[in-house]
Amino acid sequence: MTDEQERVRPSGVWATAVGVARVRALETEREDALFRDPLAQAFAAAGGLWPSSPPRPDDEAARRRRLAVSFSIVVRTNFLDDLLRQASASGIRQVVLLGAGMDSRAFRMNWPEDTRLFEVDTAAPLAFKASVLRQERAVARCERITVPVDLHEDWPGALTAAGHDPAVPTAWIAEGLLIYLPADAVELLLARISRQSAAGSRMGLTLGSRGVIERFGADAAPGSAASMWVSEMPDDPVGWLAGYGWDADIHTLRERAAVYGRPISTPPQHEERPGGLVSAIRR
Ligand SMILES: C[S@@+](CC[C@H](N)C(=O)[O-])C[C@H]1O[C@@H](n2cnc3c(N)ncnc32)[C@H](O)[C@@H]1O
Repeated sequence: MTDEQERVRPSGVWATAVGVARVRALETEREDALFRDPLAQAFAAAGGLWPSSPPRPDDEAARRRRLAVSFSIVVRTNFLDDLLRQASASGIRQVVLLGAGMDSRAFRMNWPEDTRLFEVDTAAPLAFKASVLRQERAVARCERITVPVDLHEDWPGALTAAGHDPAVPTAWIAEGLLIYLPADAVELLLARISRQSAAGSRMGLTLGSRGVIERFGADAAPGSAASMWVSEMPDDPVGWLAGYGWDADIHTLRERAAVYGRPISTPPQHEERPGGLVSAIRR
């Protein structure tokens, strides 16, 4: 059987990772792209989301919500690319992508020679990803290690068994992940990340902004990403992360978008649009 025939179909929460790839493929086609992700189109196509169909004009509110989510994905991708470049520049050579999905940073970013990058996700998306990577003959630009484990299980044990060294600093990325985990799972995840983080480790998180579930999730289509959102950011994210031993900076999507030359022209209608962006350093 070919990879294509064997491939598992995206389903449940990991199907959202293919939707994210579709957004990155669209960004890659722009002349003024904030980043280029040459594998994104192949992931989207393998998941049946490419060629990308234009949003149906009949439901204007749904169309606007989709555009807002896509925009937040583009901005957060660029934000976390920057964070990883800064982590590499600070000497960090160990990277962990939690809920890695179709993240192709191992393939599309320039890494210092001795970088090891761990991708943690459940087995099905990692198998799907591997089949697309084989088909595309993709070659990683660092040492890439996949760790198939559910984040509700003993992932620190699986990560250490795969070669992660908690004694040296790590750059952690949890992009588009915490919004899918219930509050107690988010707390456990943070506690575990913090235990596995030597001083000087860095962390990039994206958090659902306050009210986003009500605004986007309430009438979301069944099976859509927004229908699976369960967690928003705490009232005081800086204080929350300080409690786990991290000095954090929080950025809004609006502020980052302006810095990246994609200003949001509409006045803020709510406290914030989707996507609280966090960059933190372990004390
Ligand atoms: C919206 S996608 C984001 C993927 C990737 N971080 C990105 O931004 O391209 C969410 C990812 O989190 C993963 N995920 C959600 N819950 C998980 C869990 N309990 N254990 C492992 N992975 C999980 C899903 O499989 C999916 O790949």
